[in-house]
Amino acid sequence: MNDSTAVSPEKAKPVKALPDAQIVTSVKHWTDRLFSFRVARPQSLRFRSGEFVMIGLMGDPDANGKQKPLLRAYSIASPSWDEELEFYSIKVQDGPLTSKLQHIQPGDEIILRPKPVGTLVLDALLPGKRLWLFATGTGIAPFASLMRDPDTYERYDEVIMMHTCRDVAELDYGRELVESLPNDPLIGELVGDKLKYYPTTTREESPFMGRITDNLRSGKVFTDLGLPAMDPAVDRGMVCGSLDFNKDIMEILEGFGLNEGANSEPAEYVVEKAFVG
Ligand code: A2P
Repeated sequence: MNDSTAVSPEKAKPVKALPDAQIVTSVKHWTDRLFSFRVARPQSLRFRSGEFVMIGLMGDPDANGKQKPLLRAYSIASPSWDEELEFYSIKVQDGPLTSKLQHIQPGDEIILRPKPVGTLVLDALLPGKRLWLFATGTGIAPFASLMRDPDTYERYDEVIMMHTCRDVAELDYGRELVESLPNDPLIGELVGDKLKYYPTTTREESPFMGRITDNLRSGKVFTDLGLPAMDPAVDRGMVCGSLDFNKDIMEILEGFGLNEGANSEPAEYVVEKAFVG
């Protein structure tokens, strides 16, 4: 992550200038389509790793000069023990929020509604041996949180992170995180060799190619990782990507005999429907 630069007096506005304002502490641009940033964590904010909050900025003034908050659901990418909150975002040049959000700097304010919710939480799954995390693009954000949570490794013998992006550079955020975990002073020992990483690209040559869905259907991922096909008795899944991806993965998981769970009714897999890639 970039070090936060000194906050200029002009930017050191009172924190309450925006409703639920939080100060940005660092920003890192990964590609021309992707960036991550960290903000101060409200002291009272408690969340479960994998949940999301609504964040945003004030929109442009309307004809009467009134401004409304422009908010979107963002998974918290940092774990629940972290002092700050991390987010990972796409940049859409004509997107109402991300066209502006991509220009934030350390010291700026964003709006953060402190009401975390979501289905990608460990409690929404029945106990099992292997946890499969399936993400495309920025859908890796909630898993960046869960992969840093000690509870994940206390509950599962193996954690498999499958991530598919178009290009190699788009995997960097996840790759750097996964590679740092075994040496992490806080959870490195717990992670040990439990975390398996299976990154693939679809539009640029890389060691592993193809969509997650195709690699599951063909069984290639099981062969490559030396694992048996998914079994509802021991395998659990979490899914976060575009609507089409979620739909396709759900069909595959149901084919393996896994059923969808929820906070109120834990089962074998969960999907985040609030995520829009
Ligand atoms: P593909 O290049 O074959 O479309 P995006 O950048 O559009 O959000 O896509 C991120 C990644 O997710 C891409 O590698 C894309 O593959 C893949 N993807 C998109 N839709 C699906 C789907 N329905 N099933 C599996 N992978 C998908």
